[in-house]
Amino acid sequence: MDKIIKRTHTCGELSLDDLEKNVSLNGWISKRRDLGGLIFFDLRDRYGITQIVFDEKKNDYSFNIAKKLSFEDVIGISGIVIARPKEAINDTLATGQIDIEVNDIVVYNESEPPPFDINNRNSASEEHRLKYRYLELRTKELQHSMLLRHQSCLEIRKFLSNLDFIEIETPILMKSTPEGARDFLVPSRIHSGKFYALPQSPQTYKQLLMVSGFDKYFQIVKCFRDEDFRADRQPEFTQIDIEMSFVEQDDIIELGTNLTRKIWKQIVNVELPEAFPKLTYKESMEKYGTDKPDIRFDMQLLEFDQYIFDSSFDTFKNILSSKGRVKAIKCPNASMYSRKIIDELTDWLKTYYNAKGLAWMKCSDNILDGGISKFFDNSLKSKIINDLSISNDEIIFIIGDSQDIVLSALGALRLKLADRENLIDKTQWAPLWVVDFPLVEWNKDHKRWDALHHPFTSPNLEDLELVDSNPGLARSLGYDIVMNGYELGGGSIRIHDSKLQAKIFNLLGVDDQEANEKFGFLMNAFKYGAPPHGGMAFGLDRIIMLLTGSAQIRDVIAFPKTTSAMSLMDDSPSFVDQEQLNELGLKIKEKK
Ligand code: AMO
Repeated sequence: MDKIIKRTHTCGELSLDDLEKNVSLNGWISKRRDLGGLIFFDLRDRYGITQIVFDEKKNDYSFNIAKKLSFEDVIGISGIVIARPKEAINDTLATGQIDIEVNDIVVYNESEPPPFDINNRNSASEEHRLKYRYLELRTKELQHSMLLRHQSCLEIRKFLSNLDFIEIETPILMKSTPEGARDFLVPSRIHSGKFYALPQSPQTYKQLLMVSGFDKYFQIVKCFRDEDFRADRQPEFTQIDIEMSFVEQDDIIELGTNLTRKIWKQIVNVELPEAFPKLTYKESMEKYGTDKPDIRFDMQLLEFDQYIFDSSFDTFKNILSSKGRVKAIKCPNASMYSRKIIDELTDWLKTYYNAKGLAWMKCSDNILDGGISKFFDNSLKSKIINDLSISNDEIIFIIGDSQDIVLSALGALRLKLADRENLIDKTQWAPLWVVDFPLVEWNKDHKRWDALHHPFTSPNLEDLELVDSNPGLARSLGYDIVMNGYELGGGSIRIHDSKLQAKIFNLLGVDDQEANEKFGFLMNAFKYGAPPHGGMAFGLDRIIMLLTGSAQIRDVIAFPKTTSAMSLMDDSPSFVDQEQLNELGLKIKEKK
């Protein structure tokens, strides 16, 4: 390579306004057409594509070099902007009216044949693309995701800074914080046998910053959780972390709403409503079977207990008498639900949601028929049709089981049916807040109460008495923001009073010694004038995933991990040298 041709323009900007100009471009060869005495390349950079032409008659030096070039070679060229002949104009391309007639070229680097077609991301399996992620990042989909992510971060920083929030970095090597997942641990060389944890979130630090007087904090920050991965989860992900002093729940909800509105407006030009609907956790679970409902469509879960009492269906009666629940959901196009389809749905619910079965009845000629209809007499069937406004050619699916199973199975079935029946308007955005979460949930395996958010979440002060008498019923001041069925973020008003914190630790079975060991630094800090405070964190990756319309979070992270937490590109995690282990005082045991 002899020189760099300094670009005068990018590959996405030249037009008829630039005719006759001498220009220089740099980029990768994305397409190639050889017409004998003329060679055409699509030259690509991250701004776009420009067609360049090598004409043997006009410049045989450049032409002869071009003849040897191929896909993904990276070059610099200079040339003159010319108008394309009418029949060659490409209206789908920003630069589709012009070509560059090349008169000089430098080949910076020739590429080996690329392992997949950069112009067609679907030409290779995801595993293969992840191995060559740096090439996949050249595709227009991922270039778009990265750009949109960058623009979103700028908007977020601008929005929060304008409201006097300041961004403060917190440690990556820290003491473990309880956020409900497993920690990634980092062994200390200097303090043999001791470990740092990577932050599951900067929760304790941001609370300490409130004690320090930084009453409006934010940070766009990496978090690490060793948990089971799904389409919307990664072991390392990014939060927009926020904390404020002297606020109540509604202040955080207002801020979170306005930040969401701002991002949607600036990035996808969508005007979200000024206030988002609010559902209590209980309403959300009863109506949608989940605490992150997709409310772009209705199809709510229906109470069915009352009809069971009057029926002769003993299986469900027994479930009710042993504190179980029976709920139903109705769905259009009953005639499409053959025995085979219903059996498939049943097997799916059994496998993934532990449901014991899926009962059903179909409505035709204003009568309920088939499935378990024989257990209901005619007047009861008419009552069900009237009460639940069931129309002809609707099918009702009914599940009786423990409350947890009924809600989660019907919640999942609701989404499955909506998808089958095309009930979801994919162009719609449906944000909402879920509030009044329970403070604690019963952990059957360990026979103890666990915090639903985290142990610093304040109980709803109206429910303080319940914390002693019936903790399972006490509500917290925790809230989540949900969009189109995804949990975008969550937070809470925190406990800032050490006596109340001690009471909650007591409830969670954390004794004084453990509380002191794990959170002594926070409890101590709260002795020196801790302001009332609260906050939340948004999942940045999930926001970008929704904004780009991606089906999975990996598409919006430059270098993501697979669902089995591997990086296929650099092959991590990997074994380390014995010497490194020795230095850390670690010995690897055979896994049984
Ligand atoms: P929470 O645990 O609810 O709250 O996390 C906040 C948001 O972070 C996103 N998120 C994830 N995104 C991708 N992969 C993951 N593994 C993952 N885990 C969480 C979600 C989630 O809503 N410290 C508290 C916040 C607070 O109370 O202020 C916290 O971390 O979008």
